[in-house]
Amino acid sequence: MMKFGLVGLGWPGQQHIQAIENHSEIMELTAVCDADESKLNNWSGTYPTFSSINDFFANGEMDAVILAVPHHLHEPLAIQALNNGKHVLVEKPMARTSQECSNMIEAAEANNRTLMIAQNWRYTPWCIAAKKIIQSGELGKIQAVRTEWLLNFRDSFPKGSWIYNGELAGGGAITSLAIHNVDALRFIIGEVTEIFTQALYTDDWSTNKAENWAMCQLKFRNGAIGHLFTGYTPYNPPEHEVLYVYGDQGTLFFGEYQNERGLWICSETRKDKEKYEKVDSNQYAKKLHQHPQTNQILHFYESIKSVKRPETDGIEASKTIRLVEMMYESSNKHKNVNV
Ligand SMILES: NC(=O)c1ccc[n+]([C@@H]2O[C@H](COP(=O)([O-])OP(=O)(O)OC[C@H]3O[C@@H](n4cnc5c(N)ncnc54)[C@H](O)[C@@H]3O)[C@@H](O)[C@H]2O)c1
Repeated sequence: MMKFGLVGLGWPGQQHIQAIENHSEIMELTAVCDADESKLNNWSGTYPTFSSINDFFANGEMDAVILAVPHHLHEPLAIQALNNGKHVLVEKPMARTSQECSNMIEAAEANNRTLMIAQNWRYTPWCIAAKKIIQSGELGKIQAVRTEWLLNFRDSFPKGSWIYNGELAGGGAITSLAIHNVDALRFIIGEVTEIFTQALYTDDWSTNKAENWAMCQLKFRNGAIGHLFTGYTPYNPPEHEVLYVYGDQGTLFFGEYQNERGLWICSETRKDKEKYEKVDSNQYAKKLHQHPQTNQILHFYESIKSVKRPETDGIEASKTIRLVEMMYESSNKHKNVNV
């Protein structure tokens, strides 16, 4: 049995608990920590709980630690865990800056431990299916991509929360929300070579350069152009996360169509070349769970067991952070940035 400790009992922390419980034959949760004691009450009868991080590391029994805490704590807590000899799975974004990412990678290497980042789109069936379809060549040459994520954080985070403070969060909507899209673009389409970003700061909820809205034009190494649009304070947005991929022989998109959310495709090779068909992700991503965090924790477990680098190890995830830094650099300088 592999023993896991969890720090942070917000929504993502609870997804990790569910993921561990879904693999109860090979892993168990043996320590839970949250600085907010009221959050521990729900779990205190089920798991050993700790309200202090030092107590958690000193007295908790665990092989690996999952960190689901505010962004400014990712680097120090990951390093503390690694120096305590634990493997680490840390929530997205890996950290606030690429310097923090380098420090985490260094600590993982020095302690010979696995460091993985929870970029969970890469463990989501539709995302894996999209990558496989594009790799198969069904869409032909990829020419353009459009991705968006609009979500009103005010429904989940009150005014004054760390998430609206660019210093603590490392940025605004791109860092806290569209980091999923940025990472998925690198995963599905490939590396970005050129960026132009416009960001907008609209209200008194956000401080220290936490952008409410951002729009990025992208150029990819494979020649495709792309568009990323995000906002974390939209008024009741009708759409949430979407991804459209346009090739010269087909179009693929994840989003809502005919009242159904999913991955849709229309291509030269399908029976009806004019009609959108819903993709059965299981055809491309067999044995995957519909709950991304369940696939993710299994990958973390298997990477530790087999001493292999995880898909989203520190080096890979830090490239996504570097790209985000360049998006902000472009917005600050009001000009194109070559990657
Ligand atoms: N993968 C996803 O889909 C997804 C979704 C939402 C959030 N996240 C990420 O998960 C992380 C946490 O986000 P959240 O929404 O849960 O934030 P949150 O503020 O709701 O919760 C974080 C939890 O950490 C606890 N905490 C804070 N400081 C602590 C400390 N020093 N020691 C112990 N506990 C401490 C808080 O009390 C809180 O319960 C962030 O990195 C966020 O970006 C990921």
